Amino acid sequence: MAKLKIGIIGAGGIMRGAHMPGWKHVPDCEIVAVCDSHLPTAEAFAKDFGVPADRVFTDHRKLVAVDGLDAVDIGTPNQFHTPAVLAALEKGLHVICEKPLAVTTDEVRRMQAAAKKSGTVLMTAQNMRWGGSAQALRKFADSGALGEVYHARIHAMRRNWLPGKATFIDHAVSGGGPCMDIGVHALDLGLWLMGFPDPVRVSGTTMVNFAKGHDIPGGWGEWDRKLFSVEDFASGFIHFANGATMVLEASWLQHQQESEDFSARLFGKKASVHWPSGDYASVINGALVDGKIRDDAGLKPSHQEEIIAFADAIRKGKASPVPVEQTLKVIAILEAIVQSGKTGKEIVLATEKSALKTSKKKG
Ligand SMILES: NC(=O)c1ccc[n+]([C@@H]2O[C@H](COP(=O)([O-])OP(=O)(O)OC[C@H]3O[C@@H](n4cnc5c(N)ncnc54)[C@H](O)[C@@H]3O)[C@@H](O)[C@H]2O)c1
Repeated sequence: MAKLKIGIIGAGGIMRGAHMPGWKHVPDCEIVAVCDSHLPTAEAFAKDFGVPADRVFTDHRKLVAVDGLDAVDIGTPNQFHTPAVLAALEKGLHVICEKPLAVTTDEVRRMQAAAKKSGTVLMTAQNMRWGGSAQALRKFADSGALGEVYHARIHAMRRNWLPGKATFIDHAVSGGGPCMDIGVHALDLGLWLMGFPDPVRVSGTTMVNFAKGHDIPGGWGEWDRKLFSVEDFASGFIHFANGATMVLEASWLQHQQESEDFSARLFGKKASVHWPSGDYASVINGALVDGKIRDDAGLKPSHQEEIIAFADAIRKGKASPVPVEQTLKVIAILEAIVQSGKTGKEIVLATEKSALKTSKKKG
């Protein structure tokens, strides 16, 4: 079996800390090139992961032109995802890219068209799908034990973990606040468990309640109040074509006892389930039943499993483990929440229905 040759674009925190341990578990693969706009970061990465000095770049266009490359793994700040993804797809490379794949549906559609043309795997790095609890809940939902899901409650709520780097709080680089940064995780997970129904109407709002001056101490340190140009709280209400509804809340700063509440509660006609606890509630023969769906799959950390799934899809010619059609629905909802907040109106996505169609290949 020929070695999979991988190029890295954006060699920062998530790449080193989460993706690289995943690549270690992929047999017969080699990191052959690295690009980071900050040269010392690219050089340090090359040294640590054995990339030859003549394959270290600061421009992703040079990296995607490297001979013999099979795939790229992208971990740049959000606004630099699109040019890197498109350049790689145009060269016929497979792509895994950090979330959010892009911060507008226009960009996701361009990627979708490019991936269709190249026929390669384009995967959004929605690692939370590979958590043990998520996998167990998905099996439970797929068995029909939940029944028809008519409502979902999605939380991505942090007490005081605001990522203070400019690349997260400056809208020009991040393209959004907690809605895009962490709402994307919980929303993707909830939709995935629901089987990706078509969103048709969205209302929502974004606010800055604390990030401009309130004294909630930053758990990850301070941030530049003047540069802060995104929301610190977002909420949305979503209607789906099948009649189901969803409430979404995302925040980096607020008064709550939990440091972090990343969760999805799905209400089905046979049972309700809660991710990540695995708690479920139902009725059997008139008796109220509470229980727990156990995570006993013995999976590796979710970021590692996602990299393994990406490599496996490439090797076996399988569909993307996180198809772009699904990501299009996720980003359409998040984009509409922000748009609704700006206009004060409900956003109708029904006209986009054909573009938002669920992928026939099951993710
Ligand atoms: N899935 C998760 O759990 C998770 C966690 C954190 C971050 N992320 C995502 O990962 C991405 C990166 O976040 P991070 O925390 O690693 O940030 P980071 O700042 O630690 O790393 C980003 C790296 O990209 C480099 N870079 C910036 N612009 C570039 C460009 N145009 N071309 C090449 N390199 C460029 C930077 O120099 C930096 O080294 C973001 O999209 C973020 O949303 C995902």
